[in-house]
Amino acid sequence: MSFVDNVEVKFKDRTIPLTIAGSGRPCLLIHGYPLSRKMWNRVLEDLREDWLVIAPDLRGFGEAAKEKNPFSIADLAQDLSELISALEIRQKITMIGLSMGGYVAFEFWDKFADKLQNLILCNTRSAADTDAGRQIRLDAAKLVVEVGTKVVTFPMIDKMLCQHTRDNNLELVAEVLRMFENTPPTTIAFAQRAMASRREFTSKLPQIHVPTLAICGADDVMTPVTEMQSMIKDMPQAILSVIPQAGHLTPMENSQATINAIRQFLKM
Ligand code: MLT
Repeated sequence: MSFVDNVEVKFKDRTIPLTIAGSGRPCLLIHGYPLSRKMWNRVLEDLREDWLVIAPDLRGFGEAAKEKNPFSIADLAQDLSELISALEIRQKITMIGLSMGGYVAFEFWDKFADKLQNLILCNTRSAADTDAGRQIRLDAAKLVVEVGTKVVTFPMIDKMLCQHTRDNNLELVAEVLRMFENTPPTTIAFAQRAMASRREFTSKLPQIHVPTLAICGADDVMTPVTEMQSMIKDMPQAILSVIPQAGHLTPMENSQATINAIRQFLKM
């Protein structure tokens, strides 16, 4: 059976919009910032042939309700654990997180390692922010509520997408900008503060025994290959796949190569 459904799952006082498709072993796809679950459409469309694929919108993003309260990266990981229970998934899951989604995956591992079969960490890092990086986020969080989403997010496009994508795939550029634009200023502010105060996981990498695939765009300037190489060196069960003609958004910029890397890893 292979189906695609867009549904809302309710638990406690929270409603999580998500796409669910296919059947088999569960894969949970966690989007980055300032994006939504739609960033996984190409990957989901392929993986659903063999797996049960679930892509939620995190608090305040995509089709989720406007967020009224600040949240932490740990809160987002807790939401995912509750989502898994609400969906009555009892098998261990493969968690695929991109960038901010990777920060959530590290937190999830810390609290719920027993629920994880595999980790796939796309374009992300284990380190916390530097003081300077933290300040940039806090400034952006303040500015966005005054000037709106566009001013804060649109300049990110040059860093998010590699030159090849920007020159050759204007449809994708427009798709990513639409996702940026749909993210409310309050969500931008809460997410920036959450990322600014996230924990570091570099010191815990040697304890991550979950089989891990790290994926990096060859031309990613936000989480460069060298940084992801040094991250996986400290992880006992991790390998790295470098995706050509991709920047920070590998699953969108070179979805076929990303899918191939994921499929090869999940067969191992
Ligand atoms: C993302 O893609 O999720 C962001 O680049 C994460 C970040 O700002 O650190």
